[in-house]
Amino acid sequence: MSNDAKDPNKGKRRSSEWWGKADKDGFAHRSWMKNQGLPEDMFDGRPVIGIANTFSEFNPCNAHFGGIAERVKRGIYEAGGFPVEFPVFSNSESQLRPTAMLYRNLASMDVEEAIRGLPMDGVVLLVGCDKTTPALLMGAASCDLPTICVSGGPMLNGHYRGEQIGSGTHVWKFSEAVKAGEMTLEDFLGAEQANARSAGHCMTMGTASTMASMVESLGIGMPHNAAIPAVDSRRNVLAHMAGRRIVDMVREDLRMSKLLKKENFENAIVVNGAIGGSTNAVVHLQAIAGRMELDVSLDDWDRLGRSVPCLVNLMPSGKYLMEDFYYAGGLPAVIREVGEFLNKDALTANGKTIWENNKDAPNYNQDVIFPLAAPFKPNGGLAVLRGNLAPNGAIIKPSAASPELMNHRGRAVVFEDIEDYKTRIDDPDLDIDENCVMVLKNCGPRGYPGMAEVGNMGLPSKVLKKGITDMVRVSDARMSGTAYGTVVLHVAPEAAAGGPLALVQNGDMIELDVANRRLHLDVDEAELARRRETVKPFENDYRRGYSKLYIEHVTQADTGADFDFLIGRSGTPTLRESH
Ligand code: FES
Repeated sequence: MSNDAKDPNKGKRRSSEWWGKADKDGFAHRSWMKNQGLPEDMFDGRPVIGIANTFSEFNPCNAHFGGIAERVKRGIYEAGGFPVEFPVFSNSESQLRPTAMLYRNLASMDVEEAIRGLPMDGVVLLVGCDKTTPALLMGAASCDLPTICVSGGPMLNGHYRGEQIGSGTHVWKFSEAVKAGEMTLEDFLGAEQANARSAGHCMTMGTASTMASMVESLGIGMPHNAAIPAVDSRRNVLAHMAGRRIVDMVREDLRMSKLLKKENFENAIVVNGAIGGSTNAVVHLQAIAGRMELDVSLDDWDRLGRSVPCLVNLMPSGKYLMEDFYYAGGLPAVIREVGEFLNKDALTANGKTIWENNKDAPNYNQDVIFPLAAPFKPNGGLAVLRGNLAPNGAIIKPSAASPELMNHRGRAVVFEDIEDYKTRIDDPDLDIDENCVMVLKNCGPRGYPGMAEVGNMGLPSKVLKKGITDMVRVSDARMSGTAYGTVVLHVAPEAAAGGPLALVQNGDMIELDVANRRLHLDVDEAELARRRETVKPFENDYRRGYSKLYIEHVTQADTGADFDFLIGRSGTPTLRESH
C-alpha cells in the first residue's frame, strides 16, 4: 500500500495550517524553508516530524546526537514523513551551575513553546543527560502531540587499573578515599579519562540511566531504549526504528495523552524499584504526571515500591554497569521478571502493550539481573517518610542505604547551607561522630535554588578515618542518582519555604524509622512554635531574571518542583498567524 493510501488525513494536520495555504502566509512559511533545498513534495501534507535535539558540546552526554538524529531522519523518510530537526536547551549535569535542575523547567518551556509554535505533527525527543529527559517529556506532555522519546545511550564501562569504575559512584568513592588518606591525589586525577571513555551518558544506574529506563517502562520509548550503549550500532537501529514509528503514530493520532495513563506511571514506579533507580525519578515523574493531569502522588510511590525487590546488580547499589546490563538482557528482562506487579495492558509507543513487548525477554546473566524469586536486594522501591520534620513527605532509597541505620536515633549536627557544610565539615573541632544525624538546610527548590544534588554530603574526615562509611543524613536537597548511603532527601516543605527543617538546631534528637515510614524531630511543639517566631525569613542572592521567576513559582519536591503556572497541558493552539 502506498503511504498516501494509508494516510487519509494527509494534508489535514496542523502542519498544513502553515504549509498548506495558497496565500501570503503559506508562501512565507514554505519559501524560507526551501532555502534548505527541499523538494516540493515535502510540503504535500505528509506528516511533519520535529526532532527536538539536545545536542551541545557543553553537554558531553548528548554530544553524539548528530548521528542519532540522522538515523531518526532515515526512518522518518522511509515511512513517508518529513523530518525537521530543531535545537532545544541542553541541561548539562556535569557543567551547569548552580545546578542543571534549576534549568529543567526552563528547558521544558523551551520545548513546549517550540513544539507549539512550529509546524509539526509529531515529535521525537532526543534525550540523554539527566535533566534532558524529564525536561523534554514535560514540555511535550503540555503540547500533547504524538511523541516518542529516544535516549542517547550510556557510555561504555569505565575501567581503571583493572577495576570497573562507574560514573559518579567512583567520584564519590575516590574522593572519600583521598580524604581518608587511602588514595593519592595524583591517582584520583589519573582516573578522570578512565571514567568517561566513550560517547554517552553516565553508565551507572544513576539518573540518566534511570530516566532512560523510565522512558522504556512508561512506554514512551522503544524496547531496549534504556541500556543499549551509545556507541553500539544497535542504538542507531533503535533511533532508525523510532523514526519509522513516529510517522505511523501521527497517522494513528496516538497522542501522549492516549498513550500515557496512570497505569503507565505505576509500571514505571515498579520498574524504578526493580532497577534500584535514582531518587530523582520521583521529582521528574511527578512533574511529568502533573503536565499530563494525572493523579500520581508520593503515596503511589510508597504503595507500589513496598513489595518490589531490587533485581539489578548495578552501581551505585551493586557492582555492574549499564553495558553489562544490556548484555544481560537489559530492561526487557527486568520487566518480564516483575510482570506480576505490572499493568500488563498498558500501551507503548510501538503500538503493543508492555507485556507483549517483554513477556518473552531472556535473561542471559543472573548475576546482573537477579530473578524475582531470589532478588538482589529485598527492598527496591523508594520509601516515603513522613512526620513532624517532613509533613509533606521525604524519601529514602533503602537499596542504597545501610540496613543498620534504617532505624536510628541521633543527635543533629546542622549545616545552614552547603557553604556552611563545606566550611566546617573537616574542622577537627566539629562536634560530630558516626551516631549523629547530619542535617543540611536551604538546598531545596527555592533555597539553593534548583534543589541541588548535595543531599549525599560526604562524611567528616575524622569519621571516615575510623573506617566508617555511612551516617544518616537529612536534607531538602536531592542526591545524585550515582550516590549511595542512608540519605533522607526531598524533605517537604523545604527550609526556605518555611518547612520544619528550618527549625532544627544542633543537639536536637532526630528519629529515622524506615520500616514505619517515620521521620521525627524529637522537640516538643511549644518549643518548635517558639523557634518559628524567631526564625529569619530565607533570602538568597538570586534576585533577577530566570532565577527570580524560578524562586517565585517553583512548587515543592512532592509535586515535582515544576512551576505552578506550567502544571497541566494546553495542547498546540497557536491562536494567531505570524504574518
Ligand atoms: Fe550527564 Fe551523568 S552527567 S548523565
